[in-house]
Amino acid sequence: MRMVDLIIKKRDGHELSNEEIKFWIDGYVKGEIPDYQSSAMCMAIFFKGMTKREIATLTDYMEHSGEVIDLSAISGIKVDKHSTGGVGDKTSLVLGPMVAAAGGKLAKMSGRGLGHTGGTLDKLESIPHMSIAKTKEEMIDQVNKIGLAIIGQTSSLVPADKKLYALRDVTGTVESIPLIAASVMSKKLASGTDAILLDVTVGEGAFMKNMDSARELARTMVGIGTSLGRDTVAVLSDMSEPLGFAVGNNLEVKEAIASLHGKGPKDLMDLCYTSGSIMLLQAHVCSTLDEAREKLHEVIENGEAFKKLCLMVEAQGGDVSYIKDPDKFEVSKNIIEIRSDFDGYIREINALEIGVSAMKLGAGRETLDDVIDMSAGIVLARKIGAKISKGDLLCTVYTNKSEEEYLPVLEEIKHAYVFTNEEVEILPVIREIIRE
Ligand code: URA
Repeated sequence: MRMVDLIIKKRDGHELSNEEIKFWIDGYVKGEIPDYQSSAMCMAIFFKGMTKREIATLTDYMEHSGEVIDLSAISGIKVDKHSTGGVGDKTSLVLGPMVAAAGGKLAKMSGRGLGHTGGTLDKLESIPHMSIAKTKEEMIDQVNKIGLAIIGQTSSLVPADKKLYALRDVTGTVESIPLIAASVMSKKLASGTDAILLDVTVGEGAFMKNMDSARELARTMVGIGTSLGRDTVAVLSDMSEPLGFAVGNNLEVKEAIASLHGKGPKDLMDLCYTSGSIMLLQAHVCSTLDEAREKLHEVIENGEAFKKLCLMVEAQGGDVSYIKDPDKFEVSKNIIEIRSDFDGYIREINALEIGVSAMKLGAGRETLDDVIDMSAGIVLARKIGAKISKGDLLCTVYTNKSEEEYLPVLEEIKHAYVFTNEEVEILPVIREIIRE
């Protein structure tokens, strides 16, 4: 078999056989197929798509390209959650402790941020001494003791995705439904969880820009999970503006802590209550969504969810005094307020532009080797739909960059805002729920 023939076959819109997909994935992981041929294949898939059978086969070969984790040493049903990426998305830091405090078991392997989307691991690492490098045995032990662990994917897990994702990121081939579906589901299947809650983000700040494509991606992933015996549900959530108010690593951790104290932003908490209720049902901890929602409210009100975050930070070596006193987190040297010169309503806060701006302020990586500034980012003062007058605060910018570096970014942040004279309808954060 020759890789060039497979690229031509897909380029011309034909279906690849199981053997051909195996040849590509095996060869790429072993280094026998070069990056340039794999990127040509990704681009052909981007334009020509894949059939259900091809996506299932690709997922299967990617899952088995490395270690497949057995979590059976953790008693009970293990649930996991995966977001397709967003701006200000600190959901796992709030949802994880909530679900664990309500009796669920969550062994989560997370990724790092790249481009305009942030990663849970980077956010966790803004807590001094927090370790995300745990062995499988340590993770199992931690989940058995406290019900929750969020760690980095071990290097042996889905090596095919590691290579392919980095390649797609620099070849304009991330936004492909078959490639995203296989990337997400191969990782979730290999990480050994019993049930999967997928948060498929939709809007400017997400990879899926409209409801039709988000729905198609969600249905594809739910279909793969369900056909392999995993209880899989997807929520479609809005990512046209950032989630919550904070964008940037320790800024988001502080917002997550406030949320666990019952002071969370409405959109973030709506997402956590809906996703968490589904997860508690998947874990057979509750039998109705109403009962699950009530339980989640209870663990926020009685402080048990906050305690779970403290326990997780302690178990992973982090300095819990920062969680108990978030004022201890490092604050950027430069704090700049951006104010409105408009009277009216906020119609848009473009999540993609805010995400890219936060990255330029130091909060994210432009390449995998970039070092993140944990205190950099943007905190919105108001969200879409807010009534504003001239001089009102729109957002506060945090950065350690020089004035020369950050001044152009301030202009880009202003550009992310669109105003109107008319009242704006506020859409719910959860757009749809998709089950098989
Ligand atoms: N998240 C993933 O894990 N993979 C993708 O391809 C896109 C988002």
